[in-house]
Amino acid sequence: MVEAVEDMKGVILAGGSGTRLKPLTTVTSKQLLPVYDHPMIYYPLMTLIGAGIRDILVITAPEHADDYYAYLGNGKDFGVRFSYAIQKKPAGLSQALGMAKRFVGKDSVTMILGDNIFGGSVAPWIRTFNGGAMIFVKKVRDPGRFGVVELGQSGSVRSIEEKPKHPKSHFAQTGLYVYDNSVFSRIATLKPSARGELEITDLNNLYLVDGALRGVILQGEWIDAGTFDALLKANQLIARQRKKFPTRR
Ligand code: DAU
Repeated sequence: MVEAVEDMKGVILAGGSGTRLKPLTTVTSKQLLPVYDHPMIYYPLMTLIGAGIRDILVITAPEHADDYYAYLGNGKDFGVRFSYAIQKKPAGLSQALGMAKRFVGKDSVTMILGDNIFGGSVAPWIRTFNGGAMIFVKKVRDPGRFGVVELGQSGSVRSIEEKPKHPKSHFAQTGLYVYDNSVFSRIATLKPSARGELEITDLNNLYLVDGALRGVILQGEWIDAGTFDALLKANQLIARQRKKFPTRR
């Protein structure tokens, strides 16, 4: 197991209502659906654990909290510590992250979405993080489905727009975010968007205007497994790459 990274907590987001995957999500949570030989959340968890993060807060919807605890427990089986928080309503990614304030304490935090599967390693970036905020981007064919990122020179970010009608680039913002401890005072200033959520893109834009946001282009594959086709692709990716993910004992 990779050496623990100091001063970095992890948050994994497994709430939401999974509407786009109904009826698969009628009786279970999207992030517990099978992806080849493990529940979906296992893979983003391995991304955090593989970076050396040992303290992880799992955020779930109220109706599925017991199922997550049954699967993940206190973290002993995974060599880490899991804590749990319940998000009553899906009020946005930034609202969910705000719930982690006490858990994170004085540390930095890496948040990953429980339906995002990363084929390559992001560990070096997380392990050498030194302030501000970091997002990870990937070139996609259909950028309008995501947060769209316009990159500047050497890792700077010019703009991010959430699901724009006229995307300014082909780079999607993936569901992996690293923040310094100022993230919580920034979240406190956010206002709900037109769809009533505290948006991750608005939070990242607060770092952007301060010149403190860095964008990393991902080399490996990335899948947001939130649609039927993407879920199928995720299964196929893991079936091909299963050796990269050590099987739980
Ligand atoms: O996957 C990357 C994309 O994730 C980014 O490109 C976008 O900028 C970002 O807004 C987000 O877009 P999505 O449309 O995928 O967000 P969604 O509302 O589907 O939520 C993402 C996951 O987080 C989903 O698995 C459910 C969970 N979630 C969502 C919300 C809004 C929660 O646990 N709580 C919430 O309040």
